[in-house]
Amino acid sequence: MTAACLASLDHFVIGVDSDQYKIDCIQNGRPPFYEPGLEELIRLTVRSGHLSACNSADDALRDADIALLCVGTPSERSGNLGLDQLRRVVHDIASRLTGRSKPLIVAIRSTVFPGTCDEVVIPAFAGYPQVTVVSNPEFLREGCAVRDFMEPSLVVVGGSDAESVRKLAAIYDPLRVQPCLVSLRTAEMIKYACNAFHAVKIAFANEVGALAEQLQVDGREVMETLCQDRKLNVSAAYLKPGFAFGGSCLPKDLRALAYRASRLDLKLPLLEAALPSNDRHLERAVQAVLGLPGRIGVIGLAFKEDTDDLRESPVVTMLEYLIGKGRELRVYDPHIRLDSIYGSNRNFILNAIPHIGRLLESEVDTLFAWADHLVVAQKPGEELKRRIAESGLPVLNLVGSPAGAVSIPVKV
Ligand SMILES: NC(=O)c1ccc[n+]([C@@H]2O[C@H](COP(=O)([O-])OP(=O)(O)OC[C@H]3O[C@@H](n4cnc5c(N)ncnc54)[C@H](O)[C@@H]3O)[C@@H](O)[C@H]2O)c1
Repeated sequence: MTAACLASLDHFVIGVDSDQYKIDCIQNGRPPFYEPGLEELIRLTVRSGHLSACNSADDALRDADIALLCVGTPSERSGNLGLDQLRRVVHDIASRLTGRSKPLIVAIRSTVFPGTCDEVVIPAFAGYPQVTVVSNPEFLREGCAVRDFMEPSLVVVGGSDAESVRKLAAIYDPLRVQPCLVSLRTAEMIKYACNAFHAVKIAFANEVGALAEQLQVDGREVMETLCQDRKLNVSAAYLKPGFAFGGSCLPKDLRALAYRASRLDLKLPLLEAALPSNDRHLERAVQAVLGLPGRIGVIGLAFKEDTDDLRESPVVTMLEYLIGKGRELRVYDPHIRLDSIYGSNRNFILNAIPHIGRLLESEVDTLFAWADHLVVAQKPGEELKRRIAESGLPVLNLVGSPAGAVSIPVKV
């Protein structure tokens, strides 16, 4: 599939396969399996000389600039990914490179778990400085794979050698897409993140539909209306790793949904899992804070920035746990100061969580002067961010991914 599509972009492609049936099909200008549009693509590209197939990696590698590895990575019995085909093919290629000086980009197209290139592919080419390894995951869907290739939703190329990443990305230039150039491990992981996201979306829509049906509501109308919101629903909102959620709405409404579903004898494992998943995430944050030495200054108390709402704030839960473990704590929240807060939130602090109220600092500088370590539990505004940086204190940032763990896609 990929070979024929690339050949149709005027690249010269030799497909290598150990399956003689597939080779014979291609050589005769026929597809070895059905996929809409593929038959014509293969007929035209074989006739023009852009596509051919053979079973010898030697012939294919001789003049190649790029070796695109698309071998199967089937599930093992444990659920783990089977890498036998990949191991075999990288060792096969490596064994044929002796005496070759021409550079070769080995691009992993197969779906592999993050770390596979570093641990399996790159070591196989140790001693071959002419080889660079990049990851170029495939996002094609069966049934519309040719159209997906020609009008890609996403093109990702990952690697540490910028020149090789750029060269590999350039093979897609005729498609006029902007590839995301990322780290090797991000490119490997993105495929899993995408497939998991698609699966979660389907399961979500089906669970909402199932609940709607029980409640005599048109689930399709519900989901179609949900999709009209391009700001919060079908958008990048809520899709960055960060801190646990809380507040007066999400936990309460998820609990109500789960309760009503159980009354209807309806199992909604995905929706029911959201709160326990959030609890596990909070536990990870607590463990990370417990690992910090000395006195801990926490920035943020409300469940998110720019509010003084403390209802079901995960920071309150975290602080209660840390107090229980005897940790020395102080808290600063720009919108929660006992001297200026009023109404229900003041009463809530004084009556429901006085043990937390006692930890509140009114001035962030007082917190900086007292603390050995800062924990950022709420997205700080620009001014506060600057002051945190200027404090010189070590920071555990719970609202953003740890520094260095995030690759920002570079648009070319
Ligand atoms: N099928 C899809 O729609 C799809 C979509 C996205 C990603 N992927 C990923 O792409 C990879 C390939 O998927 P597939 O469905 O094409 O698998 P497949 O098993 O249908 O094809 C793999 C091919 O590799 C050949 N092969 C294996 N070892 C070889 C060797 N040493 N030398 C030469 N040829 C060899 C096999 O004969 C087979 O024809 C997998 O990692 C899969 O997860 C597939």
